[in-house]
Amino acid sequence: MPRKLIAGNWKMNLAPSEVGAYAALLKERAAEAVEKVDLLVCPAYPALPLALAAFDESPVMVGAQNMHQELSGAFTGAVSGEMLIDLGIEWVILGHSERRHVFGEDDQLILQKLQRALELEMRPILCVGELLEEREGGRTEEVLRRQFKLTLGELEPKELKRLTLAYEPVWAIGTGLTATPETAQEAHELLRGLLREKLNEDAAETRILYGGSVKPANAADLLAQDDIDGVLVGGASLDPDSFAAIAASAPR
Ligand code: 13P
Repeated sequence: MPRKLIAGNWKMNLAPSEVGAYAALLKERAAEAVEKVDLLVCPAYPALPLALAAFDESPVMVGAQNMHQELSGAFTGAVSGEMLIDLGIEWVILGHSERRHVFGEDDQLILQKLQRALELEMRPILCVGELLEEREGGRTEEVLRRQFKLTLGELEPKELKRLTLAYEPVWAIGTGLTATPETAQEAHELLRGLLREKLNEDAAETRILYGGSVKPANAADLLAQDDIDGVLVGGASLDPDSFAAIAASAPR
């Protein structure tokens, strides 16, 4: 079984000038937790160089929140995977629900980004998850199967092995409405089954993270579930104390 991955998605929060103090505190508060779990923070682009410097020689890893599917060119405002690699960034979140629903990214575009990230030998974290009306309409399984098939269906097993999946039910993101551990486990079990169809027993090696209102108070129960291999934390990752407390609550 892989180590649990505790990942923080800062979204459009924390300015570069705030990174130094954050990193100093997180390194201190998570000193014990990093012995048993992997820790990753994903700042906004301008904070990446400072975050890399601040976590240099620390086990805390640094990733990006998004990237463009092309390597370079006339794409004003965009950042390519090659630029991230140049900085020293391997991890990148792709297909986050805010990219899908606020910025209008569809599965086809997310697949292009994913293929580019894999070609660059990056470590993508692909997010999937259903909307509230899809869950209430009993369509969660159908949505997860569709998102999985459209983005991962064409990938080779060796490419899939570089991937981390994140189940982020959209209704649980930033709402305070966490999925119960049982509800999350059910979705993770479905995703594990889909991975197994492609990877057989190696599917256990692909981490599936849960994301959506994870806090120190609910992290331990979520992380205790068989198919929850880590968490992707938004709001609670902005405070090094609560992020470290989430990391500390993971079983070994
Ligand atoms: P919150 O933890 O703020 O609900 O955000 C979850 C998320 O979107 C992580 O990517």
